[in-house]
Amino acid sequence: MTERVLICYGTRKGTTAEMAEAIASIIKESDATVDVVNLKKEKIPARVEDYDLIVVGSGIQIGSWTSEPRDFIKNHLDILSKKKVALFVVCMDAAHPERCEWAQQNYLDKIVMENPGLQPISTALIPGRIDLNQHNFVTRRMLKSIISKDFPPGEEVPEVMDFRDMDKVREWAKTLISE
Ligand SMILES: Cc1cc2nc3c(=O)[nH]c(=O)nc-3n(C[C@H](O)[C@H](O)[C@H](O)COP(=O)(O)O)c2cc1C
Repeated sequence: MTERVLICYGTRKGTTAEMAEAIASIIKESDATVDVVNLKKEKIPARVEDYDLIVVGSGIQIGSWTSEPRDFIKNHLDILSKKKVALFVVCMDAAHPERCEWAQQNYLDKIVMENPGLQPISTALIPGRIDLNQHNFVTRRMLKSIISKDFPPGEEVPEVMDFRDMDKVREWAKTLISE
């Protein structure tokens, strides 16, 4: 039985925080105690070694994790190598089945390869959301030009693209406590 769970993550626009909270709410339905830590804003718990399961997640931007969860893994590798660990990323590629294999290799398997000893019990590619209104002119233009390739020529790119599927996130969270 999993008893103490740490869920820590990095987010830029908050979608990964929502996913972390959804994962936490499912795990709390078991007898586990769960700590959720936004690594950009909050302190890493003093005794990471006291957790039975450590879930680390990040949003993806231009192919990259946020630096804080990446550093967390690197700096706690000795402990994480001996623990049950699960990784998740929140990204748009996850919403496109034909890109999932590439995304799995580049956003998840790559992190595992860069951290010898890390052996996640599970990894998840979680579809996120983009709200163009949250970005400045330059980023909007860049995003629109990339995203327009997913739409028929001439079709306007919507301001908000929301691929979140909280039921799937909760399903994944359930698998973590049954491991
Ligand atoms: C500037 C920018 C770059 C992005 N680059 C990628 C990318 O390379 N691959 C991808 O799958 N999703 C990409 N996304 C989509 C994000 O991963 C998605 O918006 C996610 O929900 C962000 O999570 P966060 O709000 O927790 O940071 C990008 C989004 C933005 C705004």
